[in-house]
Amino acid sequence: MVLLAERTTLGAPIPTDRLTLQVADIGPDTTAIRCLDWDRQRFDIEFALDNGTTYNSFLIRGDKVALVDTSHVKFQELYRDLLLKQIHPDQLDYLIISHTEPDHSGLVADVLALAPHITIVGAKVAIQFLENMVHEPFRSQVVKSGDRLDLGKGHCLEFVSAPNLHWPDTIFTYDPASGILFTCDAFGMHYCDEHLQDEVPHLLEKDFQYYYDCLMGPNARSVLMALKRIDGLDIQQVATGHGPLLKHQVNHWMNCYRRWSEAQAKTDNLVVLFHVEGYGHSDRLVEAMVQGLHKTEIELEVVDLASATLQEVRELAGAASALLIGMPPQGRQHPNFQAAISTILASAHRKQGIGLFEVGGGEDEPIYPLRTQFQDLGLTEIVPPLILKMGAKPANPASAEQESIFASSGLWSGFGFVSQTSELPAALVQTCEEIGTDVGQWVSRDRTIQQIKSLDTNLEKALGRLSGGLYILTAQKGELSSAMLASWVMQASATPLGVAIAVAKDRAMESFLRVGDRFVLNVLEEGNSQPLMKHFLTRFSPGADRFAGVKTFPSQQGSPILAEALAYLECEVTSRLESHDHWIVYSTVHTGRVAKAEGLTAVHHRKVGNHY
Ligand code: FEO
Repeated sequence: MVLLAERTTLGAPIPTDRLTLQVADIGPDTTAIRCLDWDRQRFDIEFALDNGTTYNSFLIRGDKVALVDTSHVKFQELYRDLLLKQIHPDQLDYLIISHTEPDHSGLVADVLALAPHITIVGAKVAIQFLENMVHEPFRSQVVKSGDRLDLGKGHCLEFVSAPNLHWPDTIFTYDPASGILFTCDAFGMHYCDEHLQDEVPHLLEKDFQYYYDCLMGPNARSVLMALKRIDGLDIQQVATGHGPLLKHQVNHWMNCYRRWSEAQAKTDNLVVLFHVEGYGHSDRLVEAMVQGLHKTEIELEVVDLASATLQEVRELAGAASALLIGMPPQGRQHPNFQAAISTILASAHRKQGIGLFEVGGGEDEPIYPLRTQFQDLGLTEIVPPLILKMGAKPANPASAEQESIFASSGLWSGFGFVSQTSELPAALVQTCEEIGTDVGQWVSRDRTIQQIKSLDTNLEKALGRLSGGLYILTAQKGELSSAMLASWVMQASATPLGVAIAVAKDRAMESFLRVGDRFVLNVLEEGNSQPLMKHFLTRFSPGADRFAGVKTFPSQQGSPILAEALAYLECEVTSRLESHDHWIVYSTVHTGRVAKAEGLTAVHHRKVGNHY
């Protein structure tokens, strides 16, 4: 059945894209509701569409009824009206969220308004996202791989975690009664026509591959993990969130994903981060580390030890170039985590790097015995352990509600009292981001050296004839500060005064140079630049104070001005342009001063142009 949307206001047609609906039974007790967006031309910034797209939602009617995903907000009224024709809201029991991107979850609040009693089922991260999106209390059920939800009449749904396909919160839902696997984005395509399924596969090949290349290819290893997790399922049909459902050539489409992903998944730059979701402060620490890792060119797998199989743990731990491990809870009550740690130890080898961190869960596996075991295996410790413990409640009655968090390590030391639910200290979060970047840089170090060696000699010499001044960028954001030596700096505007600075993407300082941030550009003086250069060229450990032993005074907005600088400019970032491996940071200049009227700027003459 195809319903054409006629959107009018007071009888006058609104110039709009064509939006239609399609409803069809696709298996026992299972109905597809497809929202056809015929004329959508772009998905995200980089994803041009030739054939529009669809947003697919599904009803599964056992003794209980589940809705799988909703739709895009542009279908708000159409979808609502159609859903009400399909089912009375009182009969709806569950809303399964395959992932929370708005093209599928844009109408969650509308469904909740119709049926506030329903339970929303999703990955832990998905439920957290939704709580921030919906702003209304709702019932929820967190699921992960292996969990089941029995709707009755044989529809005992089984969930499969499929993180990174393409959001971190993705789950698949398998219904053994129909053999349908609901995958949302995975195996989808942006292809809009009235064919419900893949009856004419050759028409779809191009769009299927383009979609894979744009959305799934960058996470090829995660695709392979997901394929392994669904390997034993008897899949008769793949109910995707975009485009036609896959029924006639299921094996062909799956094999395409397998083949393409095997070709793309690299192992020479893989970082695997093992942790236990939701334990202690693990989620926040991992989020910061992931942010830091993504500044570098590595492939990343984040693995929740609570849902990963030992086989997955073994494969990933063996394939990784570096391992980051957030300590799981110890003790006999958690035998699965002990087995996972043993498996990692059995798979690790001496060519790998390692970083360990406690998460402050109260009963973390002790870090030092494990550290010794990895050292005995010959792994390189990229970053010293980060220790985070929940301490005793402070005696001060004013703080009686608080728990103490004590973090100390060779890298970061600090002591703070924060309530269990409050934010972690910003300095600790920054340290975690820098740990991620350090690990990524360690993994990609060989490639960086190869790139430096690979340029044509004459070209690199010619490029080296471009010279620049020597500067130190300094910034303060709240309690956090950072600094870096820069030489790729130029004036870029006269009215208003503006400068442009190229900053490598994997610099810790990059996080202080987002649009709206303020910083100081300190100009080094010829003949007096060596002490400051030497200091700021030091490789700082994550979280280390860049200004220890350096004389500074604060600028108007608080960023440190170096007392030994020849001049300084106080700047505000107004835009950023992404080049291949640098950000070009354009900033307007608010104030500035020269310390010595006669002084000259220190200049950097390079021999070659392919590195600093
Ligand atoms: Fe189709 Fe990731 O949303």
